[in-house]
Amino acid sequence: MRTQVVIVGGGPSGLLLGQLLHKAGIESIVLERQSRAHVLGRIRAGVLERGLVDLMGQAGVDTRMKAEGFVHDGTLIAYDNDMFRVDFTAHTDATVLVYGQTEVTRDLYDARDATGGDTRFEVENVVIHDAGTDAPFVTFGENGHSERIDCDFIAGCDGFHGVSRKTIPADVRQEYEKVYPFGWLGILSETPPVNDELIYANSDRGFALCSMRNANLSRYYIQCDTSDDPASWSDDAFWDELRRRIPPQAAEALVTGPSIEKSIAPLRSFVCEPMRWGRLFLCGDAAHIVPPTGAKGLNTAASDVHYLNQGLRQFYGQGDSEGIDRYSERALARVWKTQRFSWWFSTLMHHFPDQTAFDKKMQRAELALLRDSREAQAAMALSYVGLAY
Ligand code: FAD
Ligand code: DHB
Repeated sequence: MRTQVVIVGGGPSGLLLGQLLHKAGIESIVLERQSRAHVLGRIRAGVLERGLVDLMGQAGVDTRMKAEGFVHDGTLIAYDNDMFRVDFTAHTDATVLVYGQTEVTRDLYDARDATGGDTRFEVENVVIHDAGTDAPFVTFGENGHSERIDCDFIAGCDGFHGVSRKTIPADVRQEYEKVYPFGWLGILSETPPVNDELIYANSDRGFALCSMRNANLSRYYIQCDTSDDPASWSDDAFWDELRRRIPPQAAEALVTGPSIEKSIAPLRSFVCEPMRWGRLFLCGDAAHIVPPTGAKGLNTAASDVHYLNQGLRQFYGQGDSEGIDRYSERALARVWKTQRFSWWFSTLMHHFPDQTAFDKKMQRAELALLRDSREAQAAMALSYVGLAY
């Protein structure tokens, strides 16, 4: 087989890139290790920046998103039983859209089907060969057979545990990492959201987040120990703990019900440099991970896809390699700013096991500054709605 771009990974990064390339007449084959149902069963991000929404529009995949997504122009921050609002439109010209990653992925699969895109599910042993040369190829197992695809480029969109990043030689790769000493226990429930805007809460018992997917689907998170097992958290125990961590008026308004999904995510900051090696380009979680506070994971994956799509269009359209040559530098410049925001917001909102009384005073002072200062709110709003590409 031969194609122009092999996309390793059929998550949101790989699928979005595939659709954008298709619009430019650039062929791709997507290789996904899991089944389609498995990919669509993962509950992950819920808040989309304008940049991602615009890219879905450019890919021609935004009809359902526009009809069913909810525009949010502010968010609430709670601490010490106090709550204040950060208004995005007072400080920026943008808003965010509440629309689940699952729905984004479903829309992208539907679009890929409709345009006849080649997607291989449940492939095994994907290996990237000769990425450092002008004749790269990818091998994999499919239905018990070995297959080979020769290509011009490989997009490594296979998430944190994928093979692409590890293909970059260890002496070229520089990795930066910070692991946080807690996780997030999340549940999804078919109940009306406690509030029409998200509530991020810093409490002495740990962080909590009230989010949503639609008018009758709520997503809640509480900070938990990394060693916790979701099965050992009953729904009642989750609701009780959430109530204790959010302001009293929200706790009273909370409508509870059975969880339809419950899982624990670790919190990590991670960046791999460079994001390109020869003809291999890393996109999204394959290259970087943020702690989820502030919902930047999926959105940063989208900005990588934007830079790579531009670079590949420039290469195939004008024979100009400037965009792909500067891909890593451009993507990383934005990645690091987003890392800073996710690290700052995570550090501000969580209870750290080794936190001293002084550290806690610093958190309180920073929260008070954010509550009282227009400039501090403007800085937060700028990152929350998403930095320009
Ligand atoms: P992924 O979504 O990880 O997709 C990679 C794909 O590659 C997967 O489908 C995988 O099966 C496939 N793959 C892996 N290895 C191979 C291989 N060897 N061969 C072929 N295919 C392979 N972000 C937020 O903003 N808010 C959140 O609340 C949030 N919650 C999260 C919860 C969890 C448990 C996780 C893991 C992430 C969460 N994120 C969240 C982050 C966000 O979901 C990711 O940033 C986003 O999914 C990145 O998309 P991606 O396509 O780059 O990677
Ligand atoms: C969601 C997740 C986040 O990390 C966040 O900051 C906001 C919303 C969510 O899953 O809804």
